[in-house]
Amino acid sequence: MDFGLTEEQQQIREMVHDLCLERVDPRAAEIDESGEFPWDIKELFAKHDILAIPFTPDYGGVSGRALTLLVAIEEISKFCVTSSLILSVQSLGSLPIWLAGTDDQKRKYLPPLARGEQLAAFALTESGSGSDAGGMRTRVIKRGDTYVMNGSKTFITGGSVADTIVVFARTDQDGDTPARDISAFIVEKAMPGFKVGKLEKKMGIRGSPTAQLFFEDVKIPSANRLGKEGEGFKLAMQVLDHSRPGIAAQALGIAEGAFELARRYAGERRQFGKPIMEFQGIQFMLADMATQIEAARVLTYAAGDALDRDQPAVTAGSSMAKLFASDTAMRVTTDAVQILGGYGYLRDFPAERMMRDAKITQIYEGTNEIQRLVIAREVLKEKA
Ligand code: CAA
Repeated sequence: MDFGLTEEQQQIREMVHDLCLERVDPRAAEIDESGEFPWDIKELFAKHDILAIPFTPDYGGVSGRALTLLVAIEEISKFCVTSSLILSVQSLGSLPIWLAGTDDQKRKYLPPLARGEQLAAFALTESGSGSDAGGMRTRVIKRGDTYVMNGSKTFITGGSVADTIVVFARTDQDGDTPARDISAFIVEKAMPGFKVGKLEKKMGIRGSPTAQLFFEDVKIPSANRLGKEGEGFKLAMQVLDHSRPGIAAQALGIAEGAFELARRYAGERRQFGKPIMEFQGIQFMLADMATQIEAARVLTYAAGDALDRDQPAVTAGSSMAKLFASDTAMRVTTDAVQILGGYGYLRDFPAERMMRDAKITQIYEGTNEIQRLVIAREVLKEKA
């Protein structure tokens, strides 16, 4: 089923697929093993305009359509989730500029990101505020035409390699305003007082750097504030509405990659005189995996389509896609390991890496418990 993808979207899918099969697949295991950011893959994606997919042509991009981006993330994730994060974080980090930036801000920051000359990051989470994003402590104080930022962020995907980081900080004076007086700022890595702290050692997505960021009296020009003062929290929520389908697409790609591996193995592996795919126990597992993948794809593409059609209420659909697809990725990769049996548990095969990589999709960009909370609020609102 092509879900109504345009010819252009299908061509992009094929191009990304073929490129990843040839150039990313052979690198995936060593990226995981080394835990180092794959600069070669970033260059490859820049060269083939893959990093330009999140951006419209007027800002140097090639698409700007959500569904096209989802399809590209899905394809990359079939082979290497770390590599897919280069694209998804480029989108995540630039979304606040896209959604709330002035034309000047867009013209300054988006084209170098679209060309892949620079990388973006999104800095919301702090050590004390993960799910409760509004509880952040990083603060700015306004001095004339400058904001002075102090505080720190944690778990920032791509934070150590990013050139342009959108940082959310309190603009209230007492730091305790219930209405969340939070604003968003574009911070450049060269700004004095910006420092990258330790990189986390992780279960999966090991080549994607997860960094602590520190801000010590960082002076940010007022021209770098995104939107009005105090509108940063809503902006962060809008960004997540746009970006969560990207995590769904990532999860979908992982599940598809794991399914294909399990399907092939079940055809080749013989026990009791026949391929194990001829046993009903394996067939039922593969049938369940395929069904879950199909359902995840429908929700994911529907979320992308809703974003492209500027539908007013995208929040619940984005969260549903992220919730369902990430749970699917976890189930399907676990079953793929099971079908490969002892070999599934070895690093010689990608199944165990896929299972480790799948886990984070249930956690980042809002845990799946937060997705349920968001969905419940939205559906109860509709019924009220
Ligand atoms: N769009 C626009 N506005 C929204 C909104 C949305 N989707 N959701 C909430 N708002 C508005 C509300 O209307 C409300 O406005 P008013 O004050 O005018 O009424 C305001 O924002 C506050 O909303 P809530 O009262 O709902 O806020 P809350 O404190 O109860 O929390 C939450 C809401 C959904 C739990 C939110 O904090 C949340 O999403 N938490 C999870 C954070 C998260 O996903 N972090 C991910 C970090 S990024 C990442 O992980 C990237 C990576 O590594 C790759």
